[in-house]
Amino acid sequence: MDIFKEILPLKALLGSLRSNSNSIGFVPTMGALHRGHVALIEASQRENSKTICSIFVNPAQFNNPDDLAKYPRTLEKDLDMLSKAGCDIIFCPPPEEMYSTTIQLKFDFGSLDKVLEGKFRPGHFSGVALVVSKLFNIVGPDHAYFGQKDFQQYKVIEKLIAELKFNVILRSVPIEREPDGLAMSSRNSRLTVDQRKGAIIFYESLVLAKRLLSRGSDIKSTIEFITKEISQKNGIRLEYFELADTTNLMPLENVSDKAILLIAGFVGEVRLIDNLLLAE
Ligand code: PAJ
Repeated sequence: MDIFKEILPLKALLGSLRSNSNSIGFVPTMGALHRGHVALIEASQRENSKTICSIFVNPAQFNNPDDLAKYPRTLEKDLDMLSKAGCDIIFCPPPEEMYSTTIQLKFDFGSLDKVLEGKFRPGHFSGVALVVSKLFNIVGPDHAYFGQKDFQQYKVIEKLIAELKFNVILRSVPIEREPDGLAMSSRNSRLTVDQRKGAIIFYESLVLAKRLLSRGSDIKSTIEFITKEISQKNGIRLEYFELADTTNLMPLENVSDKAILLIAGFVGEVRLIDNLLLAE
């Protein structure tokens, strides 16, 4: 496994791999890796001869300095996990390698980055788009793998690739869950034992809403019912629970097979997100 902190030697290796007809699969991450990330690595390995994973906690996408400071950083453990998973190349740059000046380009994705996460984390997707653009330029992958866990992020990257004409094929990988259903997340490690038990309400709410909707319950009363149930739980603060159109993430008025339920909120101080496709 080759580990790079600098762009130039990484580009040199990738250039020689490409000239030897290797296809390159890319998995961008912020580290604190878990089985969800490994599923992306495995998806890449199935389709490409070489897989590269980046580990970079991107300051530009954190709108809350406390969240950035507390984001788990576990590089040694991550490298061990990636080596066991058979990942070929790791790129783990220091911040100054990625952000050499204070100039920060801003992205605007219209309504796509204003709804859901965008409402509660202004500027977040601009920061994601900026770092992913930089990474795509550095790595030049054939395929890039993103998790369905961050569905809105996936849609933003889809738009970014289309608008900036990046020559990369985007893939979405299904959500990896704990045995009780909790979506795997780097932030789960910050939950206390009690909070960890309570956090299951997010997935349970998605499953219950899906069941109610499939039995013909109307969207408004289903959302209201679930929102009320969650608000009665101690230590949980809901930010949003919505049914949206998978094509543009706008709220849906009628249930369709292009519908996705999305949820976000705090368990104690830890912010979690999850989603469920209705057609799933
Ligand atoms: P991070 O939160 O580390 O996630 C890296 C990738 O892993 C994302 O594509 C995310 O959707 C995916 N992922 C996380 N949990 C998952 C799960 N339980 N099942 C399947 N996939 C999962 O997302 C980011 O980092 C950053 O925003 C990044 C794209 C790296 C830009 O900084």
